Amino acid sequence: MKKTLKVLDLFAGGGGFSTGFLQVNQNQPDYKFEITKAVEIDPAACDTLRGHLGVDKVIQGDITCSSVKEEIYKSCADIDVIIGGPPCQTFSLAGPARSGTKEMREKLKNDPRNTLYKHFFEIVDKLEPDFVVFENVEGMLSKKVEEVGLKGKQVQVIELICDELGSKGYTTNIENSILDRFQVLNAADFGVPQHRKRIIIIANRLGLDNPNIKPTHGGKRVPYNTVKAIRHLPLRLPEISLPKNLKNIDVLKSNYKKILELFMKKIGDLAINEADADNKLRLEKLYQRLNVEFVSIVGKRNYKIQGLKRFLNLYNELIIEYGINNFEEDQLLTNHQSRVHNFRDVIIFIETKPGSNSSRFMNTKSDDYNELLDYLYPYDKSKHKDTYVKHCWDKPSNTILAHMEKDGLKFIHPDQPRTLTPYEAQLLQSFPNDYVFHGGRNDQYRQIGNAVPPKLAAVIGESILETKKLKKMIKEDKSELKEYAQV
Ligand SMILES: C[S@@+](CC[C@H](N)C(=O)[O-])C[C@H]1O[C@@H](n2cnc3c(N)ncnc32)[C@H](O)[C@@H]1O
Repeated sequence: MKKTLKVLDLFAGGGGFSTGFLQVNQNQPDYKFEITKAVEIDPAACDTLRGHLGVDKVIQGDITCSSVKEEIYKSCADIDVIIGGPPCQTFSLAGPARSGTKEMREKLKNDPRNTLYKHFFEIVDKLEPDFVVFENVEGMLSKKVEEVGLKGKQVQVIELICDELGSKGYTTNIENSILDRFQVLNAADFGVPQHRKRIIIIANRLGLDNPNIKPTHGGKRVPYNTVKAIRHLPLRLPEISLPKNLKNIDVLKSNYKKILELFMKKIGDLAINEADADNKLRLEKLYQRLNVEFVSIVGKRNYKIQGLKRFLNLYNELIIEYGINNFEEDQLLTNHQSRVHNFRDVIIFIETKPGSNSSRFMNTKSDDYNELLDYLYPYDKSKHKDTYVKHCWDKPSNTILAHMEKDGLKFIHPDQPRTLTPYEAQLLQSFPNDYVFHGGRNDQYRQIGNAVPPKLAAVIGESILETKKLKKMIKEDKSELKEYAQV
């Protein structure tokens, strides 16, 4: 019978960490992980957790509350492993922590989320599991605090965390390494089709060094998995809007002929490249009906924005009429739906080269320079040039971010004129294809963007079992020696 290792997942989000640990069970003859409890404050994420782990496994509440802690202590007294990644917004390399104003950075410094990790360690202290896994964003490496009692001397938070674990009797040392106590792992190096660097501290109370986790993909190893991981999914077209106050609408207006040609060419290309015969037919019909309207607009001498609006209304009606977004209707694909995009962004999506971005299309020295897109770019160029990023098929995706709940402009599909759907983000995060996220679209993006990719979590779970097995072998060797000595 397999020995069970009981796991407590703190700040569990939509369950990436837990999912990876449970996946380890498939290949292990001697041990299995069981998630005893997953603790999470966000209601939508809790629904997701309940759907996958079971209703009784989820503690929905604020980890800083004493009543929640009491519930944890009551149900997890015999826990073997604590895993968790306290929220990372304030450490993140993306967003205001890097680029915000002085006041914003000051506000972030005092953000209570900066100290959530202390509650994580309070729980570790109380439950004393054999293993602790702490995960966080790479940006945490630059997080420093003043050392207690030493005014002006700054120390890295990550080093303090390792010291704290050490003082509680945990080894954070990594085998064959004198200095390192944490590892920075890139999910792409472990077969996830996404570059995502995360700090991982593995700590154990068994007195052994922790395994040095070795990449399996990239370089001279197995090639990286890439964005092709979502290529098999059925085509989705966005609903397109044209708000009156859209920034740079005048650029659309003065270039309307070119812009409509680009749009029609995209629809035509999608029809040509569609593999399924029925779907191809539907796209061809869409193209033909739109083409009639297109010809009428471009032939007009006095072009009005109203004409463009009519064209887009027709497009929006036709994608519904022809069931364009219901290709291969499947329960699992419920979350594979595009958000609405404005027409300016759609043109930017179409014209940006796969694998390129707005910094490049606005740089006159770059091969990707595009005068039209340079004009269309709606944001302050002195502050942000990297707003739009288009992915390409033959590389891992960029880091999937929780920011996708706000906009997906850094996650433009390589072929289709839209940003990635939640389902595509889920697959690029290596979640199983039948994993269901609850909540609205933004809740889903947030849970997916926050998650530890299950494939990476599984590698971490396996490394814990390696330590566990090593300990068992040492124990057996010792008792054999004892028996031998007694003979
Ligand atoms: C980085 S995410 C964790 C992702 C998760 N480890 C996974 O792999 O899917 C951090 C989570 O902590 C949750 N959280 C934030 N503050 C919390 C609190 N005070 N108590 C409990 N959970 C909290 C957030 O809602 C968020 O889902």
